[in-house]
Amino acid sequence: PPLSEILNLHDFEAIAKVVMPEKAWAYYSSAADDEITIRENHAAYHRVWFRPRILRDVTTVDYSTKILGHASSMPMYITATALGKLGHPDGELNLTRAAAKHGVIQMIPTLASCSFDDIVDATKPGQVQFLQLYVNKDRAITKKLVQHAEQRGIKGLFITVDAPQLGRREKDMRMKFEAEDPAEVTENQQQDRVDRSQGAARAISSFIDPGLDWKDIPWFQSITKMPLILKGVQCWEDALEAYDCGLAGVVLSNHGGRQLDFARSGLEILHEVVHELSARRGLSFPNEKFQLFVDGGVRRATDVLKAVALGATAVGVGRPFLYAFSSYGQEGVDKALQILHDEFEMNMRLIGARTIAEVVPSMVDASSLSAH
Ligand code: FNR
Repeated sequence: PPLSEILNLHDFEAIAKVVMPEKAWAYYSSAADDEITIRENHAAYHRVWFRPRILRDVTTVDYSTKILGHASSMPMYITATALGKLGHPDGELNLTRAAAKHGVIQMIPTLASCSFDDIVDATKPGQVQFLQLYVNKDRAITKKLVQHAEQRGIKGLFITVDAPQLGRREKDMRMKFEAEDPAEVTENQQQDRVDRSQGAARAISSFIDPGLDWKDIPWFQSITKMPLILKGVQCWEDALEAYDCGLAGVVLSNHGGRQLDFARSGLEILHEVVHELSARRGLSFPNEKFQLFVDGGVRRATDVLKAVALGATAVGVGRPFLYAFSSYGQEGVDKALQILHDEFEMNMRLIGARTIAEVVPSMVDASSLSAH
């Protein structure tokens, strides 16, 4: 269907399922084991309801914000998803270009199909990008990547901590992964001689170090001045430890349901983390010094507004943009971002918030999330 018939982010998924090559669909859409967590990621948002305020002049609303101190047109960023070229020949560049156009931040994955430098080279002046880091067993490789990223102007390092081993994604495993186009696999991975018979995920992940530990945090702090954020924190105890280590924030995430099945949704974890860190360290959220991010299952601006009301600085969105460029290239991503802009504008008015600072906890009823 023409892009003009696309009304929301869910539509891209339905179209991608039909038009995408089977192997790519399997890799993008798959999640761990029985796929309970991926379902819960979105379902959790259905348990939070709004308490809108009325009679506030909402002629003009402004939903722009700052993420790690950098301007963003909305409290949302494009999160890191590997292997963009499986879905479209331009891969991650579709995201880079659309992000520039819409004033949003892109997180570049370690396992991008385009080279890191090509992705950075595609930015417009002033465009902000973050880097998602998988930590190599060979720390010299990681150090080189991190320092190169910093030198190229990357503004935040998101260290993935929920993947000491890749989850079991059976839909993907049923596809024998063979990189027909060598460009699908970046140089580092080509050097790794790996078993390609178990799906895309396993074929590309053998270098990741399961030995990563809290003891490594000072090393990261010693090799870079970029803000460090842990991506994949799933309980308040670890969020507290990250805060006490002096990190800049955490992403409350279960990797889009692709790692541990029966991990809780980011929204549920957010609720717990805000409560415990307020009680134990006197923090209030959103907090500039220690920022909370959430991802997984976010498909509407209303989902984002719920997370922001509960204390998130911003929310990451993954699959919808993959499905958008797999079906329509960069124009698909532009359309997805435009849909989110329109949804923000309308829903800010409908909840009675003129700025993101006015999206406060009392604007939601979160009593159906676990009590804390
Ligand atoms: C991911 N995600 C991910 N995360 C990460 O830290 N490194 C990675 O390489 C990838 N790769 C990746 C590939 C694909 C195809 C998907 C769908 C996801 C996880 C991603 O950053 C994020 O946590 C989730 O995608 C968020 O959930 P939604 O928005 O996809 O529901």
